[in-house]
Amino acid sequence: MRELSLYILDIAQNSISAGASLIEISVEENTQSDFLTITITDNGCGMSSEQISLVTDPFYTTRTTRRVGLGLPLFRMAAEQAGGNLGIESVLGKGTTVAANFVLSHIDRAPLGDLQGTITALIRLNPDRDFLFRHSIDQRSVTVDTRVLRNVLGEIALNTPEVMSWISEYIDEQEKTLSGLLPGKTELL
Ligand SMILES: Nc1ncnc2c1ncn2[C@@H]1O[C@H](COP(=O)(O)OP(=O)(O)OP(=O)(O)O)[C@@H](O)[C@H]1O
Ligand SMILES: [Mg+2]
Repeated sequence: MRELSLYILDIAQNSISAGASLIEISVEENTQSDFLTITITDNGCGMSSEQISLVTDPFYTTRTTRRVGLGLPLFRMAAEQAGGNLGIESVLGKGTTVAANFVLSHIDRAPLGDLQGTITALIRLNPDRDFLFRHSIDQRSVTVDTRVLRNVLGEIALNTPEVMSWISEYIDEQEKTLSGLLPGKTELL
């Protein structure tokens, strides 16, 4: 079973290809309703309604290197296999939201995998774009907003090694607190 963080990386890559300057990634776990929702929102080039209806078809792609685009169809399959679904909302010239639902406790729901590694890789490889990452479990949440970090850092690039290791450790620590491995209060960043 492929980890969900790898799908997040794929879908965020679509946002980057679409020229987005801000990519919002939200992972919401709700133990009451037993649902997991993953949302990726961008302010990239968007899609026409005709394009939207085609994109979950594996033969549709604007790629020129190969004909088949698999990112969205595979993500949809992962959601449907876990009792959920995938929805796409997009406006040409404005941006796109891809939202996938999963039954949290479903036996075929893939594990989240390495969210920390995924988010830090996205920031490291795209230091000129902004990312807003939020992971919540019921009422508790972890938030990382590169716009806030950028403000604090001034001229220093986000992908300098010291800043990257700080971000990586911050997410790791916050994720551990969220999953109950570390005591403490989650703070907002
Ligand atoms: N966030 C987005 N903004 C604008 N267009 C998008 C976005 N996501 C997907 N698309 C369009 O939908 C097509 C299909 O996306 P999908 O991820 O399924 O395949 P791909 O990116 O073309 O190839 P692959 O993901 O397999 O490398 C893309 O080629 C692109 O035209
Ligand atoms: Mg893709």
